[in-house]
Amino acid sequence: MVIASPGGARAVARCDALGRLPFSDIADGLYRGYLTPAHRAAIDQVAAWMREAGMDTRLDPAVNLIGRYEGTAPGPPLIIGSHLDSVRDAGCYDGPLGVMLGIECVAALHAAGRRLPFAIEVIAFGDEEGSRFPAAMLTSRALAGTLDDVPDLVDADGITLRTALAGFGSAPDRLALARHPGAIAYLEAHIEQGPVLEAEGLALGVVTGIAAQVRYATTVRGTAGHAGTCAMPLRRDALAGAAEMVCAIEAQALARGGDLVATVGRMEVRPGAANVIPGDVRFTIDVRAGEDARRDAAAEDIIDAIQAIADRRDLDFDVQRIHVLPASPCDPYLMDGLEEALVEAGHPARRLVSGAGHDAMVMAALAPTAMLFIRCRDGISHNPAEHVEIADVAAALTVMQRFVEKLGECRA
Ligand code: GLV
Ligand code: MN
Ligand code: MN
Repeated sequence: MVIASPGGARAVARCDALGRLPFSDIADGLYRGYLTPAHRAAIDQVAAWMREAGMDTRLDPAVNLIGRYEGTAPGPPLIIGSHLDSVRDAGCYDGPLGVMLGIECVAALHAAGRRLPFAIEVIAFGDEEGSRFPAAMLTSRALAGTLDDVPDLVDADGITLRTALAGFGSAPDRLALARHPGAIAYLEAHIEQGPVLEAEGLALGVVTGIAAQVRYATTVRGTAGHAGTCAMPLRRDALAGAAEMVCAIEAQALARGGDLVATVGRMEVRPGAANVIPGDVRFTIDVRAGEDARRDAAAEDIIDAIQAIADRRDLDFDVQRIHVLPASPCDPYLMDGLEEALVEAGHPARRLVSGAGHDAMVMAALAPTAMLFIRCRDGISHNPAEHVEIADVAAALTVMQRFVEKLGECRA
């Protein structure tokens, strides 16, 4: 039985509401960092929506918000989740939409006075993007039990993770206590963040797996100097070197093609004045591929190529790996169940791989995972222009409800 609800429109409206003050750390647009005032405001609001949907709520030591709707029998829950944090200058749907759809699944059951043979936990993860501290998926890793040690992280304003966690009553050495005892499955709905579904005229797709990723923080050091007096052949210009490195990274990825992608997404130039030769440049490198081995081979060649540029230009060069996650296949049995729900709801079967990272790739250590992708306009994401159609979100909710019902029938 599928429970009808107007939840698709409400899920979108709630994401839109979370895209503005006080749920953003900036007045002009959306940026919600982990453990910021906007994160606090979002937690309070989302917890209120969870309680309205019949859930009990709590914050775990990693500052994941967990709403729980009890089942008729003891045992591990079904987890439905995604993240509340955002990139800088974000769209409204990357993350929050999956949380809102989880709440809508529970709200429909609650409105019908129904419980399933298992509890449902809706989790709003605190950090997926790594947009404040240089480590992504910190809180899903804590919850999944894969956060071995927590480095001394510092944000761009010099605030330590320790200080930020203290503001929420936690501490780095308490993150491990967020470890979850286990779940029957983890389900995440997310905008596709790419153009495939739209190009094929499809609202929804079943994710087969998530690409492997690795991230580096690199520093290039030359010599700062006077832009008017220092002759060109005598310069050690860190930015000219870094620019050549960016092009080399792009060339390496282009030469490999396929699902291999490499991005320099952040760069700081110091001292950063029009009349000073740049002496110090820091930038990030993000490399992804469908398979760990392809990612690693590309990353190795990229580091070699930029080291060669640094040597030729007499620049000092340092690279630190700050993040690595293996490729994460979704569970075949759950994929079949999600596809069945999709087809029963009148959609063509379509499976696709995710180049974007998701909490699901970390949650695979805790439970079998399933992901449902929702078409987004022009495939645009990590951008304020991010957009989803209410009809597509409503369709996703119907499919999720069917999928959850099926899990219930299997365990009845
Ligand atoms: C998360 O959005 C990522 O793929 O970087
Ligand atoms: Mn994202
Ligand atoms: Mn996301």
